[in-house]
Amino acid sequence: GPEAARLVASRVLDVPDFPKPGVLFKDLMPLFADGVAFREVIDGIVAYHGRDGFDVVVGIEARGFVVAAAVAYAAGVGVVPVRKAGKLPRPAHSVSYALEYGEATLEVHEDAFTAGHRVLVVDDVLATGGTAEATLDLVERAGGTVTGFTVLLELGFLGARQRLAPRPVHALLTV
Ligand code: PRP
Ligand code: MG
Repeated sequence: GPEAARLVASRVLDVPDFPKPGVLFKDLMPLFADGVAFREVIDGIVAYHGRDGFDVVVGIEARGFVVAAAVAYAAGVGVVPVRKAGKLPRPAHSVSYALEYGEATLEVHEDAFTAGHRVLVVDDVLATGGTAEATLDLVERAGGTVTGFTVLLELGFLGARQRLAPRPVHALLTV
């Protein structure tokens, strides 16, 4: 709700020209570092989807891990990491995608999901939507059923919501 949006808005730092000239980096570490605000935001995500609305949480390396583990713990469910290329020890699905800056590959273990389990995917920031699209593809390829996708901060002007449609996108704050 408006309280979570206010907490995110007041605890995001805009860093110009990082990691490349022309990119405005949205740094949410001040939010993560504030225990009261962080708990409020995590509880807000769980409340939005309902404590019984999902069976497992997916977190996207690396900043998404911070959010995903907290959401999973708060809801009493498990967490599945989607990792950058070459980090997973067992057979994995792999999807490459173009990032706002550069290119990347994400992977998830082939046996990460139980059939029928509802998967809530979370990340810190939704920018172009490339990371999200790759992750949603990965989860579906691995047999997971995506029930929702939530970020703390959405950069609305980049059009990721349209790119991901018809899959629903939930953002605590859209700028
Ligand atoms: C950032 C951010 C999102 C992604 C959003 O991650 O944490 O995951 O970019 O961008 P997109 O919507 O244009 O794909 P980054 O790839 O910088 O890696 P990190 O989480 O490991 O810092
Ligand atoms: Mg990330």
